[in-house]
Amino acid sequence: MGILDRFSLAGRTSLVTGAGQGIGHAYAMALAEAGADVAVVDINPETASVAAAEVAERGVRSLALTIDVRDSDQASAMVEAVVSAWGRLDIGVNNAGMGLWAPGEEMSDAQWRDVLSLNLDAVFYCCRAEGRVMLAQGYGKIINTASMSARIVNRPQKQVSYNASKAGVVHLTHSLATEWADRGVRVNCISPGYTRTSLVDQVSHLVPGWLEDTPMGRMAETSDLQGALIYLASPASDFVTGHELVVDGGFTLW
Ligand SMILES: NC(=O)c1ccc[n+]([C@@H]2O[C@H](COP(=O)([O-])OP(=O)(O)OC[C@H]3O[C@@H](n4cnc5c(N)ncnc54)[C@H](O)[C@@H]3O)[C@@H](O)[C@H]2O)c1
Repeated sequence: MGILDRFSLAGRTSLVTGAGQGIGHAYAMALAEAGADVAVVDINPETASVAAAEVAERGVRSLALTIDVRDSDQASAMVEAVVSAWGRLDIGVNNAGMGLWAPGEEMSDAQWRDVLSLNLDAVFYCCRAEGRVMLAQGYGKIINTASMSARIVNRPQKQVSYNASKAGVVHLTHSLATEWADRGVRVNCISPGYTRTSLVDQVSHLVPGWLEDTPMGRMAETSDLQGALIYLASPASDFVTGHELVVDGGFTLW
């Protein structure tokens, strides 16, 4: 098989959580353009259904699933819905996440739990549900969304719960990768740097400072992350597991 053929996802089935907008939306479109059927998973039914229609316009099958991934029963139902529609799940992209800024000494229990429950607990629930199906199939690709905040401390904003949650995603990825390596299931993660999404648009006054700390001098567009995803989702990366692919314009080098 030629090298470009090994990046094709034709005939594969996939799901992306948090795919109604932002990075997850870009991931869903990239998977569709590479040939995979895509289940668009989001807590927001409106954005999920619009994104699912955009997937279908790319000539593959799509599903819109309204799911709160913080609930492990719903995470399991998400995987069951894909398997019942398409017979198997080849690619699981666990991307839904949130940020929260508050100084550590002022952060409430509820603020801490909000972030950990979505950014870490839910990623585990999704991995577990996907892993059960993929282990039975003997093949699968899981890609979690971590962040460069897993390895650096952002400034000037204070975000201890976010940083801790993303470091947890990276090591959860390492751990499941080794547990499942000899049974055909690959578990990797992508760590984006600052990426232009609606979240970042609300804090545009901080952007100049962030760019000074970025060797490439710009933020990522969501399209900058798509190539990394397709690599980790495709047979081209079959010998890669437990990897954190950092896509940050060099931010973590300084
Ligand atoms: N934007 C950045 O600069 C940046 C940088 C590094 C990492 N990330 C990570 O990338 C991921 C996506 O970020 P984004 O900027 O696209 O965010 P976003 O807020 O634009 O999109 C997040 C999506 O997740 C959905 N969602 C929220 N809670 C959910 C739940 N309980 N169940 C299912 N879906 C839910 C939202 O409805 C939304 O569609 C997150 O994990 C984030 O931490 C973002």
